[in-house]
Amino acid sequence: MIFYFTGTGNSLYAAKHLDTELVSIPQAIKEKELSYTAETIGIVCPVYGHEVPLMVKEFLQKAQFQTEYFYMVLTYGNRHGGAAELAEELCRSCGIRPSYINILWMVDNWLPGFDMDEQRTIDKKVEEQLAAIKDDIVSRRGMIAEVTDKDRAAHEEFLNNMSKLPEDAWQHLIRIGEGCIGCGICEKVCPSASIHLQDGKAVHVPGNCQTCLACAHNCPQKVIGLNVPEKNKDARYRNEHITLQEIIQANIQNEVC
Ligand SMILES: Cc1cc2nc3c(=O)[nH]c(=O)nc-3n(C[C@H](O)[C@H](O)[C@H](O)COP(=O)(O)O)c2cc1C
Repeated sequence: MIFYFTGTGNSLYAAKHLDTELVSIPQAIKEKELSYTAETIGIVCPVYGHEVPLMVKEFLQKAQFQTEYFYMVLTYGNRHGGAAELAEELCRSCGIRPSYINILWMVDNWLPGFDMDEQRTIDKKVEEQLAAIKDDIVSRRGMIAEVTDKDRAAHEEFLNNMSKLPEDAWQHLIRIGEGCIGCGICEKVCPSASIHLQDGKAVHVPGNCQTCLACAHNCPQKVIGLNVPEKNKDARYRNEHITLQEIIQANIQNEVC
């Protein structure tokens, strides 16, 4: 059994490699009973600011897992900043004892930092990394990915920079520009129901935004951008092995849309 959270498909792609019983966290978290029993239980999600997305944190805090082997795979694009160690601390604070936490280097979908057209051309040897992770999991390897003092310093620096921003700065990251045709795709790919259509136009409501950027990356008109400068406003990304329909299925909150 593997739980996943995804904005642009990297983590879903990884999850599909590792297990056949896939459960989307944005769907699971709506259930009343969050109690799971399986021989192995995995979590696959992106790294946001070196940590797991808020919804994944909330899920780990609420859920009960009965398993002999609990593992996490954290997809990241450029700098993991000790994500494995931070995830281990989170697990322990939730009463979970992880057997295995690894990181997986993939396309970085963070639009302020990276040009998606460039990212696509970098060979990050994803298949090789995934094959090694799969072997580890099949053999029930115990391991937490190595974290160096340099990684810890990077995270400290990040936290220090974040502390200078207003607490809700991330909630105002998404900007819906002119030219929305009201197709509603952004609403369907949003895992936190933070976008809806009003008078035929998309509206972003801050509060519970996960900043996964699914809305921006999947907008066919490219009218969803950010309130901070982007590397390339015309370049958008979705994992090449994952369809738009799969992202919708994973994240859709409002079934009537
Ligand atoms: C809000 C946000 C924060 C991110 N922070 C980091 C980070 O700290 N380090 C990193 O290497 N990548 C970071 N990334 C890149 C993603 O972790 C990476 O592209 C991931 O594989 C995306 O997974 P997904 O396609 O399943 O959404 C960030 C992306 C977003 C949207």
